[in-house]
Amino acid sequence: MCGIVGLVGEIVVSDLIEGLEKLEYRGYDSAGVAFLRDSSLCVEKNKGRVASLKEKLSELLNERITLGIAHTRWATHGEPNDINAHPHTDCQSKLCVVHNGIIENFKELKKRLEEVGHRFGSDTDTEVIPHLIEEYYTTDLVEAVRKAVKLLEGSFAIAVIHVDHPDIIVGTRKGSPLILTVGNGVAGIASDVTPLLKYSKDMVFLEDGDIFCVSKGGFEVFDVVGRKKERKPTHIDWTYETAQKSGYKHYMLKEIFEEPSCVAATLSGRIKSAKVHLPEIEELQDLLASSKTLKVVACGTSSYAALSFKYFLENLSDVCVDVEVSSEFRYKRPNFDENTVLVAVSQSGETADTLESVRLAKSKGAKVLAITNVVGSTLMRESDHTLLLNAGPEISVAATKSYVTQLVLLYLLGLKIVELRDQWNERCTKLIDSLLRLPEVLDATLSRTEHIKEVALKYKDFQHFMYIGRGLGYPTALEGALKLKEISYIHATAYPAGELKHGPIALLGPEFPVFAIAPFDALYAKMKNNMIECKARKAKLVVLTSDDCEDVREIADDVLSVNSFSEQLYPVLMAPVIQLFAYYIADALGHDPDKPKNLAKSVTVE
Ligand code: F6R
Repeated sequence: MCGIVGLVGEIVVSDLIEGLEKLEYRGYDSAGVAFLRDSSLCVEKNKGRVASLKEKLSELLNERITLGIAHTRWATHGEPNDINAHPHTDCQSKLCVVHNGIIENFKELKKRLEEVGHRFGSDTDTEVIPHLIEEYYTTDLVEAVRKAVKLLEGSFAIAVIHVDHPDIIVGTRKGSPLILTVGNGVAGIASDVTPLLKYSKDMVFLEDGDIFCVSKGGFEVFDVVGRKKERKPTHIDWTYETAQKSGYKHYMLKEIFEEPSCVAATLSGRIKSAKVHLPEIEELQDLLASSKTLKVVACGTSSYAALSFKYFLENLSDVCVDVEVSSEFRYKRPNFDENTVLVAVSQSGETADTLESVRLAKSKGAKVLAITNVVGSTLMRESDHTLLLNAGPEISVAATKSYVTQLVLLYLLGLKIVELRDQWNERCTKLIDSLLRLPEVLDATLSRTEHIKEVALKYKDFQHFMYIGRGLGYPTALEGALKLKEISYIHATAYPAGELKHGPIALLGPEFPVFAIAPFDALYAKMKNNMIECKARKAKLVVLTSDDCEDVREIADDVLSVNSFSEQLYPVLMAPVIQLFAYYIADALGHDPDKPKNLAKSVTVE
C-alpha cells in the first residue's frame, strides 16, 4: 500500500511534502516527488522516509510551482531503493506517474513494451504505466491514460503529469482509493482526505473506472470509453487541525487522548428519550428484529471490537452473533441468503478482505451494514447501509480511538437490536445511562496515565507477554496483546483465562509475565483462580481491574485500575489502559508507534 498526492494551482514544493507527511501511515520505505519547473520535469526520490526527501529538497521547499505529484511507498514489487521509489517516468522523461496498488499483468506488458523499444530502469510493476501512456500519447493526455488503463489488470490509483500540460493532473482508480477536491486556487487528489482538508472540505470520492482530469479551476471525470461522468462532492466535517499532532509526541498518544471527545461524537444524536436512535438502519429493522443470526466480519483490531459486540449482544438478547475474520469468511462456502444481515466493521473502509467478504455476501443477496470511520470509503459505497464512527482522522497505524468508537457504536447497534426484538429491560436502560457518561469516565481513566506509564516501563525489557481474560475481558486481552506486539515488537499472545491449563500455562515463569484483564465483575472469582495459578508459576502479574476490586493487590505485582462502572462497558474504559501500556513500552524501546515496521494503516491488498 502507498500514499499518493497531487496538487495543481498556487503551491510551493513543501505543500507536496506536507501532503506526503499526512499519508506516511500508508507506507514509508521510500518517497518521491515530481513537479514542473521552468517547463521541465523535476523528479526527486529516495529510499527511506519523507523526512529524508524533505531534507534533500531543503533548498527548493519554498519554490513556487504550479503542479506536482508525490508518493510515499510500501514496496510490493522491487526492493525499497532510490530507483524503485516513485514517481516513474517514460523514456523521454516527459511524463511522470505515481501509483498505489499492484499491476498484476506487468510482466507481459513490460515484455511487449520492451519489444517496441521502451527502456526500463526499475524493478517495479508501476513503471509499465508511464511507458504505456507514452506509447499512446499524441497530444491528448486524458485519451492516452484512458487507452493505457484499458490494458492494466490489478488494483490501482494513478496520477500522471506531463510537461506539455503544465496545468492538469490526470489519473484513474480501480480498487485503490482516490479522492479529489477543488479549493480556492488549489485543486488536489490524494489517497485519503487528510492532505486535502487544507484546501477544501468538499471531496469527490472517485469510483472504480473513473478517469479524471483536474485543474485549479475544476475537474472532469470520464469512464473508460470516454463518456463524461457526473461526480458530486461530499462535505467532510473533519478539520485540518484534527489531522495534526497538536504538540503530542506521536499521533497514537494524541488519538488515545481524543477518545473521550470521539466517543461523545459517536454518541451524539444517537440517544433520544433513553432509546437508541439510528435512522440509517431503518430499512433493516424487520430483518434485525427477526433474524436468528447476525454475521459480522472484520480484521485485526476491528475484529476484536466485533467479538466484544458478540459477547454484549448475546448476553442481552436471543440473537446469535457469528463473528469471523474477513480473510477466512471470504473463502468459505456462503451459508446465508437474502434474509441475512452482514455487519462489516472497518475503520478505513478499504481493507481488501473485508471488501471481498461484503461482495460475497451481496452476491448471495445478504444486506450489508458497514461500520466505518471514513466517509466515501469503498466499504461505505458498496454497503447497503452505513453507521459512521465520527472519530475524525486516525493517522497512527495502530488503531486506538477507532477501536473505542467501534465498541460504542456496536453497543448502540446491539441495544437497538434488543429493542427491535422486544427484549428491552431495565439493564438496557441503565446501559444507556452509562453510555452517556462514558466520555467523562474515559477522562478519568486517562487521568491515570502517569501511573500506567510507570508500570509499563517496569516491563519494557521482557521478551514475552501473556494476556488473559474471561467474557468481555477476553476480546480486551486479544486487543491488548495485538497492541503490544505490533508497536513494541514484544511477543504477546492472548487466551481466554480458562484455556491456560489446556496448554499455554506451560510457557509461564519468571521470564514470561501475565497481563490479566480482571474487572470486579461476575467472572472475577474465576479470574482470581487463574491469576493465582499464574503466580504459582512465578510469573509476574499485571492486573487491569476496577476500583471496587479490593483483594487483587494480594496477588498482583502491579495493579492498573479504572473507575467501577457497568460491567459491559469495561472494554471501552480499559481500552486506553492497554493502549497506553503498549505505547509507553514501544516509545521507551525507541520504536515509532505511529509507523510500526512491516505494517500499514489500510491493508488494501490480500
Ligand atoms: C491494529 C490495526 C489493524 C486493523 C486491521 C483492520 O492496530 O490497526 O489490526 O484493525 O488492519 O483495519 P480496518 O479496521 O481499517 O479494516
